[in-house]
Amino acid sequence: MTSLNFILQNIILCLDVDSCGYILSDLPLGLYSAACRRLSSASRCKQSITGLDISDRLSKFLSSQTNLYRLILRGKKLIRGKVDAVDFDSMIRISMANNGSANDDTTNQNSSPSDLLKNEAPIDELSREIQETLSVSQRHKFWETQPVGQFKDLRDSTLPEGPIEPPTPLSEVKQEPYNLPTPYEWVTCDINSEETCLEVYNLLSNNYVEDDENMFRFNYSKEFLRWALHPPGYFKTWHIGVRVKTSKKLVAFITGIPAKIRVNKDIVTMAEVNFLCVHKKLRSKRLAPVMIKEVTRRVHLENIWQAAYTAGVVLPTPITSCQYWHRSLNPKKLIDVGFSRLGPRMTMSRTMKLYKLPDSPLTPGFRKMELRDVPSVTRLLKAYLLQFIVAPDFDEIDVEHWIVPKEGVVDSFVVESQETHEVTDFCSFYSLPSSILGHPNHTNLKAAYSYYNVVTKTPLVQLMNDALIVAKQMDFDVFNALDVMHNEGFLKELKYGPGDGKLHYYLYNYRIKSMLKSSELGLVLL
Ligand SMILES: CC(C)(COP(=O)(O)OP(=O)(O)OC[C@H]1O[C@@H](n2cnc3c(N)ncnc32)[C@H](O)[C@@H]1OP(=O)(O)O)[C@@H](O)C(=O)NCCC(=O)NCCS
Ligand SMILES: *[C@@H]1O[C@H](CO)[C@@H](O)[C@H](O)[C@H]1NC(C)=O
Ligand SMILES: *[C@@H]1O[C@H](CO)[C@@H](O)[C@H](O)[C@H]1NC(C)=O
Ligand SMILES: *[C@@H]1O[C@H](CO)[C@@H](O)[C@H](O)[C@H]1NC(C)=O
Repeated sequence: MTSLNFILQNIILCLDVDSCGYILSDLPLGLYSAACRRLSSASRCKQSITGLDISDRLSKFLSSQTNLYRLILRGKKLIRGKVDAVDFDSMIRISMANNGSANDDTTNQNSSPSDLLKNEAPIDELSREIQETLSVSQRHKFWETQPVGQFKDLRDSTLPEGPIEPPTPLSEVKQEPYNLPTPYEWVTCDINSEETCLEVYNLLSNNYVEDDENMFRFNYSKEFLRWALHPPGYFKTWHIGVRVKTSKKLVAFITGIPAKIRVNKDIVTMAEVNFLCVHKKLRSKRLAPVMIKEVTRRVHLENIWQAAYTAGVVLPTPITSCQYWHRSLNPKKLIDVGFSRLGPRMTMSRTMKLYKLPDSPLTPGFRKMELRDVPSVTRLLKAYLLQFIVAPDFDEIDVEHWIVPKEGVVDSFVVESQETHEVTDFCSFYSLPSSILGHPNHTNLKAAYSYYNVVTKTPLVQLMNDALIVAKQMDFDVFNALDVMHNEGFLKELKYGPGDGKLHYYLYNYRIKSMLKSSELGLVLL
């Protein structure tokens, strides 16, 4: 009963593939592949590691009770809120009761693997399984060729921080677009054109990101797309479409926008790459790598050599992995559409009472941000973002674009001191609805996403409670926030619940020394 194998198997069974990719960063290589096997979702399970001493490394790793304990805690954190069936607490007790060296580290090898694994032969078996799964076909055929952090380099602390490859002379950047399969052609999408914007909107609203269970799909509005793609200094050529030559139907899309991003002390001009989408009928044909290479080429033509992007999937290699949290504003609808579930021992009316909010904001001087607030909001934001390892470097022009309210797109509120009339705090959120797929009574889920929030006088919890109140007034169903920046300081207290969605952040052609905690990240991409 108190078997190590039992514990491991439970963890492996509970972890989803993406999380397993993530724990790779400081957990034994083999567990990840074993998890892939268990979940038998071979197609999504492409992470792999080269290395021949898996068995040795894995058993060494597990010979440390501390490591085992950490693994269990990590597993618990990763699936919190998702699986109740596994009694992690008793697993921890079991593993600790087995100890002998509860606070040892990898340096302490007093308890040998064979002590731990008495009466079991699973390690050899497990490692054989692992070896079998380590085939070339599971590698990232595309991403392994790109200047991005590679999984195999994760533990190599001798690699320097900064660009992975130096810039090449502009004359050496490929001048012609990459080849597409013959039925297709490249186009530059002019989002200012109502017609093109509608085509992009239609492509995305039918083919863009869905949740794992295919119940919801992002429904970015046209106004939102115009805002997201036309920041100061944007390049038209970075809004890239693929059309069918004969019918001119738009079937794929990818975009970049320029941004100054600070990494530790260095401010780097980057492209923020977003809205990668391939029509559902054209998936798995390796079109995405061509799209990514083409946007990269066009970014290089502007003498820019780095990029930042996010994805729900694990690729080589996240700089940090964040979790989404959700605050119900309209719990009945969220439960009706399957976004959330009625808690155990909860009734609908108790749930509605739990999430009820005051009718209007509580902080004196809380009001909608106006254009005249740009200088003070910029000052607040600049000072605030300095404390994060990776964060945008915003000036007033950026703030005017990104933070000043735009109806149905982005909303921002400031607190103006009643005495001095100074702006002391602000909060902001953007509007990204999702289509509800196949529900008889509801089609649209109105979601607000926390953007940038800064306090100097108002308690953060109070400010973010006011954000919830105004979002509720605006008829949003749910308020979402990532666990980035100081957000952990209000999530639990304001009754957010952890979601199962993860968002991994990446840099292209820029290595950082070690993975960030999500709270060390000061960047929100749309
Ligand atoms: C993401 C999407 C464009 C990928 O296209 P696809 O047809 O599934 O995959 P392809 O065969 O063209 O390419 C696969 C390669 O792209 C990579 N890839 C897949 N999704 C990716 C993403 N979101 N970002 C970067 N690379 C990605 C894969 O890892 C794989 O490369 P690898 O072999 O090195 O691992 C497509 O699935 C899609 O439109 N999905 C819905 C929208 C979406 O999720 N967009 C991404 C938002 S972050
Ligand atoms: C486990 O470790 C703790 C702390 O080192 C110790 O107090 C306890 O007795 C150990 N338990 C067993 C079963 O060895
Ligand atoms: C849709 O609404 C009808 C009428 O109110 C109700 O009977 C039905 O259960 C609802 N369907 C779902 C899936 O919520
Ligand atoms: C998507 O959003 C648009 C507004 O931008 C709205 O008109 C449409 O109904 C939404 N689609 C669905 C399926 O909810």
